[in-house]
Order: sequence, then C-alpha cells, then structure tokens
Amino acid sequence: MALTGCLWLWRLPLLLTTLMLRSCFLSVSASTTSFPKDLEPLHVVSSEQSYQYPGFQGLLLDNDTLRLGLDFQRMLRINHILYIAARDHVFAVNLTTASEEFVPQLKLTWKSKDVSKCTVRGKNSDECYNYVKVLVPRNDETLFACGTNAFNPTCRNYKMTSLEQVGEEVVGQARCPFESIQSNVGLFAGGDFYSATMTDFLASDAVIYRSLGEGRPVLRTVKYDSKWLREPHFLHAIDYGNYVYFFLSEIAVEYTALGKVVFSRVARVCKNDNGGSPRVLERYWTSFLKARLNCSVPGDSFFYFDVLQSLTNVLQINQRPAVVGVFTTQSNR
Ligand SMILES: *[C@@H]1O[C@H](CO)[C@@H](O)[C@H](O)[C@H]1NC(C)=O
Ligand SMILES: *[C@@H]1O[C@H](CO)[C@@H](O)[C@H](O)[C@H]1NC(C)=O
Ligand SMILES: *[C@@H]1O[C@H](CO)[C@@H](O)[C@H](O)[C@H]1NC(C)=O
Repeated sequence: MALTGCLWLWRLPLLLTTLMLRSCFLSVSASTTSFPKDLEPLHVVSSEQSYQYPGFQGLLLDNDTLRLGLDFQRMLRINHILYIAARDHVFAVNLTTASEEFVPQLKLTWKSKDVSKCTVRGKNSDECYNYVKVLVPRNDETLFACGTNAFNPTCRNYKMTSLEQVGEEVVGQARCPFESIQSNVGLFAGGDFYSATMTDFLASDAVIYRSLGEGRPVLRTVKYDSKWLREPHFLHAIDYGNYVYFFLSEIAVEYTALGKVVFSRVARVCKNDNGGSPRVLERYWTSFLKARLNCSVPGDSFFYFDVLQSLTNVLQINQRPAVVGVFTTQSNR
C-alpha cells in the first residue's frame, strides 16, 4: 500500500543550485522510531451529504457511458466557465449557476471517424473512441483540443465562447497520446505548444516536444535514450519566466540494481532554445535539464516518498514563488 506523503515546497528560481526541502512533514519529531501520521482532515463529507450538492454525471442515457463510465480526462477553468474534456465530448459548465444546477451550457461532440479501422487493428475496442486528452487555452479566444481519435491522435481549435471549430485539424502525434491510459501534459507559451507524451502506437517513444510556433524550430528530447526519459508518467507542466517545467515520475536510471524504482523529477527547458547545430543535437533541446525531487523524512536512513501524485501551479508562499506537491511511497512498499 502506498502511503500518502508530504507537502513539499520548492523555490522555482533556485532549481539548479538548491532543491530546497521546505516543509516536508511539519510535525516530524526528533525520534527516529515514530513514523509521521497522516494529518487529520478538517472536514469530512459523507455520501449522504454529498448528494445534497449538485453533480454532473455526463451523458447518463448514453450507451457508451453506461458501458464505459464517464471517462473525464481533463478539466480547465477559464473565468467562470469550467470545461470538461471526456470521451467523444467536451462540456462547458457556467460556474455562476452551477451551485444550483450543474448542467453544461455547451456540449461539443467530437467522435472518431476511424472506428472501423481501429477495430480491425485488433486493439482493445474500448479505445476506439476519441478520448480528449489535451484541452488548453491557445489565446484569449481559442481552445486547443486533441483526442486519441481511435489510435489516430488529432488536434483542433475551438472558439471558447461557442465551442465551434476554427480552422483545420492538425496531426496530434507527439502532442496527444494514442491511448486514454497514457499520461500527457501540454501548454501554450509564447505561441509554441509544449507537450509531453508518448509519440507512437506502442508507447515506446516518450517525448517532451515543442511545435506549432511561428518563429521557433520544432524540438524534442532524444529518442529511446533513458538518460532523457525512461518510462515517464507526466503529471504537470508550468510556464514560468523564461522556462517551461515538466513534472513527472519515471523509472530511475540511478538504481538499476534494485529493479524498477520510481523517482520523481522536474525537467526544464528554455523557451528561447533553438536547438543544436547539424553536428550536435540538431532538432533536439540544448537546454534540457532534470533533477530528482527529494521528499524524505530523516531517520536511521532517509525514508523517501518518491512518487509524485499531484502538483499545484505556482503559488506565493511567504512572498516566494513555490509549488506544492503530494508524494507517496513506491507502490510495493
Ligand atoms: C442503446 O442500446 C439499446 C439496447 O442495446 C439499443 O436499443 C439503443 O438503440 C441504443 N441506443 C443508441 C443511441 O445507440
Ligand atoms: C453564466 O450565467 C450567468 C447567469 O445566468 C450569465 O449572466 C452569464 O452570461 C453566463 N456566462 C457565460 C459565459 O455564458
Ligand atoms: C534529500 O534531502 C535530505 C535533506 O536535505 C538530504 O540529507 C539527503 O541527502 C537528500 N537525498 C538525496 C538522495 O539527495
């Protein structure tokens, strides 16, 4: 069983010099024997109570929903609208009225046209849908959405206010995974789309990728090189200053003797990276760096919470920019 770990704060601008462990278990005592207890919740809501609140359960009478469940993939709040990306649909809920009635004001249906080809390929037919895995603002008026599209990832632009499609479809490869279960993150910064995902049908090639910009070249991490990425699980991306940060967990290359051990990392690229020269790192990042996230408790030896589960955006804590993460132990510990 994994144990829920500690809150962990980190000063963003100090990435390379000091990975600061600011407040990992505030209540850790000097004793080496007692293990830190989970914090008491401030408030617990029972299921009877939660039914008093309005809820949204997707398309209840839809046969696919009855069979496969809701499959919500992403949520994105822009001002007073909450966008919910799901299987074959994107919903827009007006939060001004949602406390009384939680119903979408707009619904976009985007189904795959390639379902027959998908089922012929002999893959799991539950994947022969369009799982919308990317939903991010592209500018003040436009949302950028990508779906798995029955193993043929595809991206489109939509008007925020009406969910009407704008312009043509673009290829989703390296921007969106092929399967719903794969992790991915993405964001626009300075007109470029930064994505982290698997780029192929077999999910063997993981990538941190930049594309769709007007002035800057397309760049990626080196293919099949475990020093760059090794079976990563992407959790979050943050645009901060001159950098884009990617938070992920992956199989450690440092500890091969112990079998597969998961470490959590932050990777960073510079927005003004133009890639290498024809001799070295052409079309690859030249600014890619990554560091291990150290969330640990002292004792006879350090006890590590190595698996990042969730992360905030940049917050101001004690007048400093910081992110807060929740970590657990390895699943087998
Ligand atoms: C849902 O399934 C039922 C029973 O199989 C079928 O009669 C009905 O036509 C289906 N509805 C849709 C919208 O496909
Ligand atoms: C949300 O609902 C409120 C109250 O009905 C309405 O005034 C507002 O225009 C709606 N917002 C949008 C973006 O549609
Ligand atoms: C993690 O942080 C602690 C406290 O700063 C430090 O003593 C320990 O050596 C670090 N572990 C690694 C693997 O860097």
